[in-house]
Amino acid sequence: MQKLAIQGGNPLRGEVRISGAKNAALPIMCASLLTADTLRLTNLPDLHDVGTMRKLLQQMGVAAEIATNEITFKGDKIDNWEAPYEMVKTMRAAILVLGPLVARFGDAKVSLPGGCAIGSRPVDLHIKGLQAMGAEIAIEHGYIHAKAKKLKGARIFFDIVSVTGTENLMMAAALADGVTVLENAAREPEVIDLANCLRAMGAKITGDGTDNITITGVEKLHGATHHIMPDRIESGTFLVAAAATGGSITLRETRADILDTVLEKLTEAGAKITVDGTSIHLEMSGRPKSVSVRTAPHPAFPTDMQAQFMVLNCIAEGSAMVIETIFENRFMHVQELRRLGAMIDVEGNTSVVRGVDHLEGATVMATDLRASACLVIAGLVAQGETVIDRIYHLDRGYEHIESKLSQLGANIRRIK
Ligand code: EPZ
Repeated sequence: MQKLAIQGGNPLRGEVRISGAKNAALPIMCASLLTADTLRLTNLPDLHDVGTMRKLLQQMGVAAEIATNEITFKGDKIDNWEAPYEMVKTMRAAILVLGPLVARFGDAKVSLPGGCAIGSRPVDLHIKGLQAMGAEIAIEHGYIHAKAKKLKGARIFFDIVSVTGTENLMMAAALADGVTVLENAAREPEVIDLANCLRAMGAKITGDGTDNITITGVEKLHGATHHIMPDRIESGTFLVAAAATGGSITLRETRADILDTVLEKLTEAGAKITVDGTSIHLEMSGRPKSVSVRTAPHPAFPTDMQAQFMVLNCIAEGSAMVIETIFENRFMHVQELRRLGAMIDVEGNTSVVRGVDHLEGATVMATDLRASACLVIAGLVAQGETVIDRIYHLDRGYEHIESKLSQLGANIRRIK
Protein backbone atom coordinates (compact mmCIF):
# COMPACT_ATOMS: atom_id res chain seq x y z
CA MET A 1 0.00 0.00 0.00
CA GLN A 2 1.59 3.29 -1.10
CA LYS A 3 1.47 6.41 1.06
CA LEU A 4 2.14 10.11 0.65
CA ALA A 5 4.21 12.03 3.23
CA ILE A 6 3.72 15.81 3.30
CA GLN A 7 5.54 18.44 5.35
CA GLY A 8 3.07 21.33 5.70
CA GLY A 9 3.67 25.07 5.62
CA ASN A 10 4.88 25.83 2.08
CA PRO A 11 2.68 28.26 0.10
CA LEU A 12 2.12 26.92 -3.45
CA ARG A 13 3.81 29.14 -6.05
CA GLY A 14 4.26 28.77 -9.82
CA GLU A 15 2.51 27.26 -12.82
CA VAL A 16 0.81 23.93 -13.37
CA ARG A 17 -0.67 22.40 -16.55
CA ILE A 18 -4.15 20.95 -16.12
CA SER A 19 -4.74 17.46 -17.55
CA GLY A 20 -7.66 16.18 -19.60
CA ALA A 21 -10.87 15.57 -17.63
CA LYS A 22 -11.28 12.05 -16.18
CA ASN A 23 -15.07 12.38 -16.23
CA ALA A 24 -15.06 13.36 -19.90
CA ALA A 25 -12.45 10.76 -20.93
CA LEU A 26 -14.30 7.77 -19.43
CA PRO A 27 -17.64 8.14 -21.32
CA ILE A 28 -15.86 9.28 -24.51
CA MET A 29 -13.65 6.16 -24.50
CA CYS A 30 -16.87 4.09 -24.48
CA ALA A 31 -18.00 5.88 -27.67
CA SER A 32 -15.37 3.71 -29.43
CA LEU A 33 -17.91 0.85 -29.12
CA LEU A 34 -20.33 2.78 -31.36
CA THR A 35 -18.31 2.59 -34.60
CA ALA A 36 -16.14 0.17 -36.62
CA ASP A 37 -13.90 3.12 -37.59
CA THR A 38 -11.02 4.58 -35.63
CA LEU A 39 -11.67 7.00 -32.78
CA ARG A 40 -8.52 8.97 -31.86
CA LEU A 41 -8.58 10.65 -28.44
CA THR A 42 -5.96 13.25 -27.49
CA ASN A 43 -5.30 15.03 -24.17
CA LEU A 44 -6.27 11.85 -22.31
CA PRO A 45 -5.13 12.03 -18.66
CA ASP A 46 -2.63 9.38 -17.54
CA LEU A 47 -4.84 7.94 -14.77
CA HIS A 48 -5.51 4.52 -13.30
CA ASP A 49 -9.19 4.71 -14.31
CA VAL A 50 -8.29 5.49 -17.94
CA GLY A 51 -6.06 2.39 -17.95
CA THR A 52 -8.87 0.29 -16.46
CA MET A 53 -11.38 1.53 -19.05
CA ARG A 54 -8.92 0.84 -21.89
CA LYS A 55 -8.38 -2.73 -20.67
CA LEU A 56 -12.14 -3.23 -20.36
CA LEU A 57 -12.64 -2.13 -23.98
CA GLN A 58 -9.70 -4.24 -25.18
CA GLN A 59 -11.10 -7.41 -23.58
CA MET A 60 -14.25 -6.77 -25.62
CA GLY A 61 -12.16 -6.73 -28.79
CA VAL A 62 -11.63 -2.99 -29.28
CA ALA A 63 -8.12 -2.37 -30.64
CA ALA A 64 -6.22 0.36 -28.78
CA GLU A 65 -3.01 2.00 -29.96
CA ILE A 66 -1.47 3.85 -27.02
CA ALA A 67 0.71 6.96 -27.19
CA THR A 68 1.46 9.60 -24.55
CA ASN A 69 -1.86 11.07 -23.38
CA GLU A 70 -3.43 9.64 -26.53
CA ILE A 71 -5.20 6.44 -27.58
CA THR A 72 -6.51 5.44 -31.01
CA PHE A 73 -9.37 2.92 -30.75
CA LYS A 74 -10.81 0.73 -33.49
CA GLY A 75 -14.07 -1.12 -32.86
CA ASP A 76 -14.29 -3.35 -35.96
CA LYS A 77 -13.52 -6.66 -34.20
CA ILE A 78 -15.63 -6.50 -31.06
CA ASP A 79 -16.59 -10.07 -30.18
CA ASN A 80 -17.33 -9.98 -26.46
CA TRP A 81 -20.21 -7.90 -25.12
CA GLU A 82 -19.49 -8.45 -21.46
CA ALA A 83 -18.12 -6.19 -18.71
CA PRO A 84 -17.02 -8.59 -15.93
CA TYR A 85 -17.46 -7.94 -12.20
CA GLU A 86 -13.69 -7.90 -11.54
CA MET A 87 -13.33 -4.81 -13.74
CA VAL A 88 -16.62 -3.09 -12.89
CA LYS A 89 -16.14 -3.36 -9.10
CA THR A 90 -13.03 -1.14 -9.24
CA MET A 91 -14.54 1.46 -11.54
CA ARG A 92 -18.25 2.30 -11.57
CA ALA A 93 -17.91 4.20 -14.82
CA ALA A 94 -17.70 0.79 -16.56
CA ILE A 95 -21.51 0.98 -16.62
CA LEU A 96 -20.99 3.37 -19.56
CA VAL A 97 -20.37 0.42 -21.92
CA LEU A 98 -23.99 -0.71 -21.49
CA GLY A 99 -25.71 1.87 -23.71
CA PRO A 100 -23.22 1.64 -26.60
CA LEU A 101 -23.18 -2.20 -26.59
CA VAL A 102 -26.99 -2.49 -26.74
CA ALA A 103 -27.20 0.24 -29.38
CA ARG A 104 -24.61 -1.28 -31.72
CA PHE A 105 -24.88 -5.04 -31.06
CA GLY A 106 -28.31 -5.43 -29.44
CA ASP A 107 -26.75 -7.42 -26.62
CA ALA A 108 -24.84 -6.59 -23.42
CA LYS A 109 -23.92 -8.27 -20.16
CA VAL A 110 -22.60 -5.76 -17.63
CA SER A 111 -21.95 -6.42 -13.97
CA LEU A 112 -24.00 -4.32 -11.59
CA PRO A 113 -21.49 -1.87 -10.13
CA GLY A 114 -21.11 -2.32 -6.39
CA GLY A 115 -21.77 0.64 -4.15
CA CYS A 116 -18.79 2.65 -3.09
CA ALA A 117 -17.60 4.70 -0.15
CA ILE A 118 -19.74 7.72 -1.00
CA GLY A 119 -23.06 5.96 -1.50
CA SER A 120 -25.11 3.07 -2.86
CA ARG A 121 -25.02 4.63 -6.34
CA PRO A 122 -27.72 2.60 -8.10
CA VAL A 123 -28.02 2.48 -11.88
CA ASP A 124 -31.82 2.12 -12.04
CA LEU A 125 -32.16 5.24 -14.23
CA HIS A 126 -29.74 3.82 -16.81
CA ILE A 127 -31.82 0.61 -16.94
CA LYS A 128 -35.20 2.37 -17.01
CA GLY A 129 -34.05 4.54 -19.91
CA LEU A 130 -32.91 1.56 -21.99
CA GLN A 131 -36.19 -0.23 -21.25
CA ALA A 132 -38.07 2.84 -22.47
CA MET A 133 -36.09 2.46 -25.73
CA GLY A 134 -37.26 -1.15 -26.07
CA ALA A 135 -34.43 -3.11 -24.47
CA GLU A 136 -35.36 -6.32 -22.61
CA ILE A 137 -33.43 -6.24 -19.36
CA ALA A 138 -32.94 -9.06 -16.85
CA ILE A 139 -30.87 -8.77 -13.68
CA GLU A 140 -29.38 -12.14 -12.78
CA HIS A 141 -26.47 -13.15 -10.54
CA GLY A 142 -25.34 -9.52 -10.19
CA TYR A 143 -25.32 -8.90 -13.94
CA ILE A 144 -27.47 -6.69 -16.17
CA HIS A 145 -28.43 -8.64 -19.32
CA ALA A 146 -29.78 -6.26 -21.95
CA LYS A 147 -31.11 -7.31 -25.37
CA ALA A 148 -32.75 -5.32 -28.15
CA LYS A 149 -33.28 -6.02 -31.84
CA LYS A 150 -33.09 -2.32 -32.49
CA LEU A 151 -33.45 0.44 -29.90
CA LYS A 152 -36.27 2.89 -30.58
CA GLY A 153 -36.26 6.60 -29.79
CA ALA A 154 -38.24 7.49 -26.65
CA ARG A 155 -38.99 10.37 -24.30
CA ILE A 156 -37.09 9.69 -21.08
CA PHE A 157 -37.56 11.67 -17.87
CA PHE A 158 -34.86 11.47 -15.19
CA ASP A 159 -36.46 11.87 -11.77
CA ILE A 160 -32.94 12.38 -10.41
CA VAL A 161 -30.29 14.21 -12.43
CA SER A 162 -27.69 11.58 -13.38
CA VAL A 163 -24.44 12.43 -15.19
CA THR A 164 -23.51 8.94 -16.43
CA GLY A 165 -27.21 8.11 -16.82
CA THR A 166 -27.51 11.00 -19.27
CA GLU A 167 -24.28 9.96 -21.02
CA ASN A 168 -25.23 6.27 -21.31
CA LEU A 169 -28.62 7.04 -22.84
CA MET A 170 -27.24 9.75 -25.14
CA MET A 171 -24.83 7.16 -26.61
CA ALA A 172 -27.58 4.52 -26.87
CA ALA A 173 -29.94 7.00 -28.60
CA ALA A 174 -27.29 7.97 -31.17
CA LEU A 175 -27.87 4.67 -33.04
CA ALA A 176 -31.55 4.12 -32.17
CA ASP A 177 -34.44 4.32 -34.61
CA GLY A 178 -36.09 7.72 -34.33
CA VAL A 179 -35.86 10.60 -31.88
CA THR A 180 -35.00 10.39 -28.17
CA VAL A 181 -35.60 13.27 -25.75
CA LEU A 182 -33.82 13.22 -22.39
CA GLU A 183 -35.66 15.43 -19.90
CA ASN A 184 -34.16 16.64 -16.63
CA ALA A 185 -30.83 15.63 -18.20
CA ALA A 186 -27.46 16.42 -16.58
CA ARG A 187 -25.93 19.74 -17.72
CA GLU A 188 -22.33 19.00 -16.69
CA PRO A 189 -19.62 20.23 -19.14
CA GLU A 190 -18.45 16.61 -19.54
CA VAL A 191 -21.86 15.78 -21.08
CA ILE A 192 -21.25 18.54 -23.66
CA ASP A 193 -17.75 17.18 -24.37
CA LEU A 194 -19.23 13.73 -25.05
CA ALA A 195 -21.91 15.28 -27.30
CA ASN A 196 -19.18 17.16 -29.21
CA CYS A 197 -17.31 13.90 -29.78
CA LEU A 198 -20.48 12.05 -30.86
CA ARG A 199 -21.36 14.89 -33.28
CA ALA A 200 -17.86 14.62 -34.76
CA MET A 201 -18.71 10.93 -35.32
CA GLY A 202 -21.91 11.87 -37.18
CA ALA A 203 -24.47 11.81 -34.36
CA LYS A 204 -27.38 14.26 -34.39
CA ILE A 205 -27.59 15.82 -30.91
CA THR A 206 -28.97 19.17 -29.75
CA GLY A 207 -29.64 20.67 -26.32
CA ASP A 208 -26.59 19.22 -24.54
CA GLY A 209 -25.69 21.56 -21.67
CA THR A 210 -29.38 22.16 -20.99
CA ASP A 211 -31.72 19.83 -19.10
CA ASN A 212 -33.45 18.83 -22.34
CA ILE A 213 -31.35 16.90 -24.88
CA THR A 214 -32.71 15.68 -28.25
CA ILE A 215 -30.93 12.88 -30.13
CA THR A 216 -32.02 11.78 -33.62
CA GLY A 217 -30.70 8.26 -34.26
CA VAL A 218 -28.56 7.55 -37.35
CA GLU A 219 -27.75 4.25 -39.12
CA LYS A 220 -24.01 4.28 -38.42
CA LEU A 221 -21.36 6.45 -36.77
CA HIS A 222 -17.94 7.03 -38.35
CA GLY A 223 -14.54 7.65 -36.79
CA ALA A 224 -13.28 11.00 -35.48
CA THR A 225 -10.50 12.70 -33.54
CA HIS A 226 -11.43 14.37 -30.27
CA HIS A 227 -9.38 16.46 -27.82
CA ILE A 228 -10.58 15.79 -24.24
CA MET A 229 -11.64 18.95 -22.36
CA PRO A 230 -9.59 20.13 -19.35
CA ASP A 231 -10.38 18.73 -15.90
CA ARG A 232 -12.43 21.30 -13.97
CA ILE A 233 -12.15 19.34 -10.70
CA GLU A 234 -8.36 19.07 -10.93
CA SER A 235 -8.37 22.83 -11.68
CA GLY A 236 -10.56 23.55 -8.66
CA THR A 237 -8.47 21.30 -6.43
CA PHE A 238 -5.22 23.13 -7.25
CA LEU A 239 -6.91 26.53 -6.80
CA VAL A 240 -8.21 25.55 -3.36
CA ALA A 241 -4.76 24.20 -2.41
CA ALA A 242 -3.19 27.53 -3.40
CA ALA A 243 -5.83 29.49 -1.47
CA ALA A 244 -5.42 27.29 1.63
CA THR A 245 -1.61 27.66 1.64
CA GLY A 246 -1.71 31.43 0.97
CA GLY A 247 0.05 30.95 -2.34
CA SER A 248 0.03 32.32 -5.86
CA ILE A 249 -0.41 29.95 -8.81
CA THR A 250 -1.32 29.94 -12.49
CA LEU A 251 -3.21 27.05 -14.09
CA ARG A 252 -2.45 26.51 -17.79
CA GLU A 253 -4.61 24.80 -20.49
CA THR A 254 -7.79 24.94 -18.44
CA ARG A 255 -11.09 26.84 -18.81
CA ALA A 256 -12.81 29.29 -16.47
CA ASP A 257 -16.31 29.02 -17.97
CA ILE A 258 -16.75 25.50 -16.50
CA LEU A 259 -15.84 26.59 -12.96
CA ASP A 260 -18.02 29.65 -12.32
CA THR A 261 -19.39 28.69 -8.89
CA VAL A 262 -15.99 27.46 -7.67
CA LEU A 263 -14.27 30.71 -8.74
CA GLU A 264 -17.06 32.73 -7.12
CA LYS A 265 -16.67 30.85 -3.81
CA LEU A 266 -12.88 31.27 -3.86
CA THR A 267 -13.30 35.02 -4.44
CA GLU A 268 -15.74 35.11 -1.52
CA ALA A 269 -13.03 33.40 0.56
CA GLY A 270 -10.71 36.31 -0.24
CA ALA A 271 -8.72 34.99 -3.23
CA LYS A 272 -7.79 37.33 -6.10
CA ILE A 273 -8.58 35.51 -9.35
CA THR A 274 -7.76 36.63 -12.87
CA VAL A 275 -8.60 34.73 -16.05
CA ASP A 276 -6.63 35.04 -19.27
CA GLY A 277 -7.81 32.73 -22.07
CA THR A 278 -7.00 29.16 -21.01
CA SER A 279 -5.12 30.32 -17.87
CA ILE A 280 -6.46 31.04 -14.40
CA HIS A 281 -4.31 32.92 -11.86
CA LEU A 282 -5.03 32.84 -8.13
CA GLU A 283 -3.37 35.01 -5.49
CA MET A 284 -4.16 34.57 -1.77
CA SER A 285 -2.66 36.75 0.92
CA GLY A 286 -3.63 36.19 4.55
CA ARG A 287 -6.11 33.76 6.03
CA PRO A 288 -9.12 32.68 3.93
CA LYS A 289 -12.59 33.63 5.07
CA SER A 290 -15.13 30.83 5.68
CA VAL A 291 -17.51 30.17 2.77
CA SER A 292 -20.65 28.04 2.95
CA VAL A 293 -21.31 25.69 0.03
CA ARG A 294 -24.26 23.51 -0.99
CA THR A 295 -23.67 20.88 -3.67
CA ALA A 296 -26.17 20.37 -6.50
CA PRO A 297 -26.15 19.39 -10.19
CA HIS A 298 -24.26 21.68 -12.62
CA PRO A 299 -24.25 24.67 -12.94
CA ALA A 300 -24.56 24.71 -9.13
CA PHE A 301 -21.62 23.95 -6.83
CA PRO A 302 -20.09 20.56 -7.78
CA THR A 303 -20.17 17.70 -5.27
CA ASP A 304 -16.65 16.73 -6.44
CA MET A 305 -15.37 20.00 -4.90
CA GLN A 306 -17.16 19.61 -1.56
CA ALA A 307 -14.32 17.93 0.36
CA GLN A 308 -11.78 20.46 -0.91
CA PHE A 309 -13.86 23.40 0.35
CA MET A 310 -14.38 21.63 3.65
CA VAL A 311 -10.65 21.62 4.33
CA LEU A 312 -10.36 25.27 3.22
CA ASN A 313 -13.04 26.10 5.80
CA CYS A 314 -11.14 24.10 8.46
CA ILE A 315 -8.40 26.75 8.58
CA ALA A 316 -10.49 29.77 7.53
CA GLU A 317 -11.67 32.67 9.68
CA GLY A 318 -15.22 32.08 10.89
CA SER A 319 -17.69 29.21 10.50
CA ALA A 320 -19.34 27.76 7.42
CA MET A 321 -21.96 25.19 6.43
CA VAL A 322 -21.13 22.47 3.92
CA ILE A 323 -24.27 20.77 2.59
CA GLU A 324 -24.05 17.63 0.41
CA THR A 325 -27.23 16.98 -1.55
CA ILE A 326 -25.99 14.51 -4.21
CA PHE A 327 -24.52 11.55 -2.33
CA GLU A 328 -25.76 10.13 0.95
CA ASN A 329 -22.37 9.42 2.45
CA ARG A 330 -19.84 11.91 1.19
CA PHE A 331 -18.48 13.10 4.56
CA MET A 332 -15.96 10.26 5.03
CA HIS A 333 -13.17 12.85 5.12
CA VAL A 334 -14.66 14.49 8.25
CA GLN A 335 -13.31 12.00 10.77
CA GLU A 336 -9.91 12.08 9.08
CA LEU A 337 -9.83 15.90 9.21
CA ARG A 338 -10.78 15.76 12.91
CA ARG A 339 -7.60 13.72 13.50
CA LEU A 340 -5.70 16.75 12.22
CA GLY A 341 -7.49 19.03 14.72
CA ALA A 342 -10.42 20.24 12.58
CA MET A 343 -13.63 21.35 14.34
CA ILE A 344 -16.51 19.88 12.32
CA ASP A 345 -20.02 18.92 13.44
CA VAL A 346 -22.14 16.73 11.14
CA GLU A 347 -25.91 16.47 11.20
CA GLY A 348 -27.28 14.36 8.28
CA ASN A 349 -26.15 15.92 5.00
CA THR A 350 -25.07 19.14 6.69
CA SER A 351 -21.76 19.84 8.36
CA VAL A 352 -20.72 22.98 10.26
CA VAL A 353 -17.02 23.79 10.05
CA ARG A 354 -15.46 26.16 12.58
CA GLY A 355 -12.11 27.52 11.41
CA VAL A 356 -9.09 26.79 13.63
CA ASP A 357 -5.85 28.71 13.30
CA HIS A 358 -3.87 25.63 12.36
CA LEU A 359 -4.08 21.86 11.77
CA GLU A 360 -1.55 19.38 13.22
CA GLY A 361 0.01 16.77 10.95
CA ALA A 362 -0.98 13.14 11.60
CA THR A 363 -1.46 9.82 9.82
CA VAL A 364 -4.77 9.72 7.95
CA MET A 365 -6.50 7.38 5.50
CA ALA A 366 -7.98 8.17 2.10
CA THR A 367 -11.47 6.74 1.57
CA ASP A 368 -12.47 7.99 -1.88
CA LEU A 369 -11.00 10.05 -4.67
CA ARG A 370 -11.98 13.56 -3.65
CA ALA A 371 -11.61 12.87 0.08
CA SER A 372 -7.98 11.97 -0.63
CA ALA A 373 -7.49 15.28 -2.44
CA CYS A 374 -8.88 17.08 0.60
CA LEU A 375 -6.41 15.24 2.86
CA VAL A 376 -3.52 16.26 0.59
CA ILE A 377 -4.58 19.90 0.97
CA ALA A 378 -4.85 19.38 4.74
CA GLY A 379 -1.29 18.01 4.74
CA LEU A 380 -0.05 21.03 2.79
CA VAL A 381 -1.36 23.42 5.47
CA ALA A 382 -0.89 21.32 8.64
CA GLN A 383 2.05 21.91 10.97
CA GLY A 384 4.52 19.03 10.80
CA GLU A 385 4.21 15.84 8.77
CA THR A 386 1.00 14.26 7.46
CA VAL A 387 1.07 10.72 6.09
CA ILE A 388 -1.85 9.68 3.87
CA ASP A 389 -2.53 5.97 3.46
CA ARG A 390 -4.46 4.18 0.65
CA ILE A 391 -3.52 6.78 -1.95
CA TYR A 392 -4.56 4.45 -4.78
CA HIS A 393 -7.83 6.43 -4.56
CA LEU A 394 -5.86 9.55 -5.50
CA ASP A 395 -4.11 7.92 -8.45
CA ARG A 396 -7.51 7.12 -9.97
CA GLY A 397 -8.31 10.76 -10.58
CA TYR A 398 -5.23 12.99 -10.36
CA GLU A 399 -2.44 12.73 -12.92
CA HIS A 400 1.05 12.77 -11.29
CA ILE A 401 -0.27 14.82 -8.36
CA GLU A 402 2.85 14.76 -6.22
CA SER A 403 5.13 15.87 -9.06
CA LYS A 404 2.73 18.70 -9.97
CA LEU A 405 2.56 19.79 -6.32
CA SER A 406 6.36 19.50 -5.88
CA GLN A 407 6.80 21.79 -8.89
CA LEU A 408 4.65 24.29 -7.00
CA GLY A 409 6.93 24.11 -3.96
CA ALA A 410 5.13 21.50 -1.85
CA ASN A 411 7.25 19.22 0.33
CA ILE A 412 5.59 15.93 -0.67
CA ARG A 413 6.95 12.43 -1.36
CA ARG A 414 5.50 9.01 -2.12
CA ILE A 415 6.44 6.21 0.28
CA LYS A 416 6.44 2.80 -1.42
C1 EPZ B 1 -20.66 11.22 -11.97
O1 EPZ B 1 -21.01 10.06 -11.24
C2 EPZ B 1 -19.18 11.44 -11.73
N1 EPZ B 1 -18.43 10.30 -12.26
C3 EPZ B 1 -18.92 11.62 -10.23
O2 EPZ B 1 -17.54 11.90 -10.06
C4 EPZ B 1 -19.73 12.83 -9.76
O3 EPZ B 1 -19.54 12.97 -8.36
C5 EPZ B 1 -21.22 12.59 -10.06
O4 EPZ B 1 -21.39 12.36 -11.48
C6 EPZ B 1 -22.08 13.80 -9.68
O5 EPZ B 1 -21.63 14.92 -10.34
C7 EPZ B 1 -18.23 10.23 -13.60
O6 EPZ B 1 -18.65 11.08 -14.37
C8 EPZ B 1 -17.44 9.05 -14.08
P1 EPZ B 1 -24.90 10.49 -10.86
P2 EPZ B 1 -22.44 9.34 -11.50
O7 EPZ B 1 -25.48 9.38 -11.64
O8 EPZ B 1 -22.87 9.58 -12.88
C9 EPZ B 1 -28.30 8.88 -8.00
C10 EPZ B 1 -15.43 11.65 -9.11
O9 EPZ B 1 -15.00 11.90 -7.99
N2 EPZ B 1 -28.59 7.93 -9.09
O10 EPZ B 1 -24.95 11.89 -11.42
O11 EPZ B 1 -22.32 7.95 -11.01
C11 EPZ B 1 -26.94 8.65 -7.37
O12 EPZ B 1 -27.05 7.67 -6.34
C12 EPZ B 1 -16.76 10.96 -9.28
O13 EPZ B 1 -14.84 11.95 -10.21
C13 EPZ B 1 -29.69 7.07 -8.95
O14 EPZ B 1 -30.39 7.08 -7.95
O15 EPZ B 1 -23.38 10.16 -10.53
C14 EPZ B 1 -26.59 10.01 -6.83
O16 EPZ B 1 -27.20 10.19 -5.57
C15 EPZ B 1 -17.38 10.63 -7.94
N3 EPZ B 1 -29.96 6.18 -9.95
C16 EPZ B 1 -27.22 10.98 -7.85
O17 EPZ B 1 -28.18 10.20 -8.57
C17 EPZ B 1 -29.20 6.13 -11.10
O18 EPZ B 1 -29.51 5.33 -12.00
C18 EPZ B 1 -26.24 11.55 -8.85
O19 EPZ B 1 -25.53 10.45 -9.40
C19 EPZ B 1 -28.10 7.01 -11.22
C20 EPZ B 1 -27.82 7.90 -10.21
